[in-house]
Amino acid sequence: MADATLPAWMSPDESDHVRALMASWGMLADLCFADLLLLVPDDAGNPVDFHAVGQVRPSTNPTLYREDMVGRVIPGAERPVFKRSWALGQIVEEEVSHATGERVRLQCIPVRGRDRLLAVMTRESAPTVGRRQGELERVYVETFDRFARMIVNGEFPFHFEEEVSLSGESPRVGDGVLVVDDKGRVVYASPNAVSALHRLGVTSNFEGARLEELGVEATSVARALEAALPVTEEVERRPDLSLLVQTIPLLENGRPTGAMVLVRDVTDLRRRDRLLVSKDATIREVHHRVKNNLQTISSLLRLQGRRLGPGGGRTALEEAERRIRSIALVHEILSRDPGDQVAFGEILRSLVHMAEEAATSFDRPVRVQIKGDAGEVPAEVATPLAVVMAELLQNAVEHAFTGEGPWQERDRRQVGVDFDNDGTELRIRVWDNGVGLPEGFDVSRTVSLGLSLVRDLVIGQLQGQIMMGSEGGTRVALVFPLPAPTDLG
Ligand SMILES: Nc1ncnc2c1ncn2[C@@H]1O[C@H](COP(=O)(O)OP(=O)(O)O)[C@@H](O)[C@H]1O
Ligand SMILES: [Mg+2]
Repeated sequence: MADATLPAWMSPDESDHVRALMASWGMLADLCFADLLLLVPDDAGNPVDFHAVGQVRPSTNPTLYREDMVGRVIPGAERPVFKRSWALGQIVEEEVSHATGERVRLQCIPVRGRDRLLAVMTRESAPTVGRRQGELERVYVETFDRFARMIVNGEFPFHFEEEVSLSGESPRVGDGVLVVDDKGRVVYASPNAVSALHRLGVTSNFEGARLEELGVEATSVARALEAALPVTEEVERRPDLSLLVQTIPLLENGRPTGAMVLVRDVTDLRRRDRLLVSKDATIREVHHRVKNNLQTISSLLRLQGRRLGPGGGRTALEEAERRIRSIALVHEILSRDPGDQVAFGEILRSLVHMAEEAATSFDRPVRVQIKGDAGEVPAEVATPLAVVMAELLQNAVEHAFTGEGPWQERDRRQVGVDFDNDGTELRIRVWDNGVGLPEGFDVSRTVSLGLSLVRDLVIGQLQGQIMMGSEGGTRVALVFPLPAPTDLG
């Protein structure tokens, strides 16, 4: 479909009328199985030559025009039938020869605006020789003829705003056509319309019935007949079927004598829409499930640990359980607020809570002091960081306050975490005032599981550095870069 500049003699309203026709005439070409051309004369009062301003090919039949006709000028003398139809203001039809010698049936349909003729629409098709028409062809062509009469009377296209906004996904003839009478009773249903209605659950014979009587909750047919205007509506049927129903009334002298109802199964389109809308909800749901799964694994480990007597195996299972729980925490936060960035402070508070409970279970209760704000960290940083922090806090409550020392008094025990997040780099210090690290401890060489894990996560996954030393207790310093937040929703 193409559009050329309309002549100067046309008023803006008249141009709109012509453009509206060309916006919705795809369905007309489909209905008549023929090429349509729109011709505008050079002079409205005394046409001499006709300019082709639009062309549309049928999707239901091969085209007669391989070439683009838009922009061509057809001298009135060459096709007197144009002028005749214009002068009469009526549909005129004749058989003509193309330059190629081909015989074609040429129908000229004058296009009336509010007060005068604006154009001639031609419908060109091969003369139907020896081709027996089926019911579908007969009904479609009859429907086209009704639209053609409306065009001559200035009743089509309809002037209403909805049309444009819906044009992107308005149904096409190929999707499914119902023809109803002036009471909304089905007189014809194309095979695709029958299939669409079957999917809606309508299995009864619907000829002669109205859609409402068939259990289709579509009021658009009744409304379109009432208002004598097209109405588009979407019918939904659980679990997920969506049908776009567009009713275009067929008028005769302003009164609806029936309507063409185009039905299109938009289930897949809607599913895609819903997917987009619910992407956030889906991510949330995924994190929620991951969290639940991790919690299940951690309770399995706890149960299994309880079956072992005190000792190495049991401790290992308890540690594994704790690590999994700290990862589950991150997913829990993400399940509430999915995004690229996570406020780590909330995760830390839960980790601190876990450590304080562990401290109580060791009979050395302690409150962990938090200074500074962890700020936002990318989601991919949050998980390894949660595991690291859980290990360091656990070590403090487990190892710092052992043996003789002032920490035997509850008030003398201190554990703290300091944050410094400048948006590009996160610095964290984890400290306690306990016994300090064993003589000769070197974090880069340690083979004990907890701290090897911490070291490998900080250096490997967080691309950072770790320093550990003793100074009135144990001091751990971490520093790593924060990747810039991505724009990926
Ligand atoms: N905050 C701390 N205070 C004192 N000693 C610690 C501290 N953190 C770690 N350590 C020492 O480092 C060792 C290794 O720690 P880690 O790798 O976490 O193994 P685990 O906690 O299983 O013993 C601990 O056994 C402990 O001796
Ligand atoms: Mg440890």
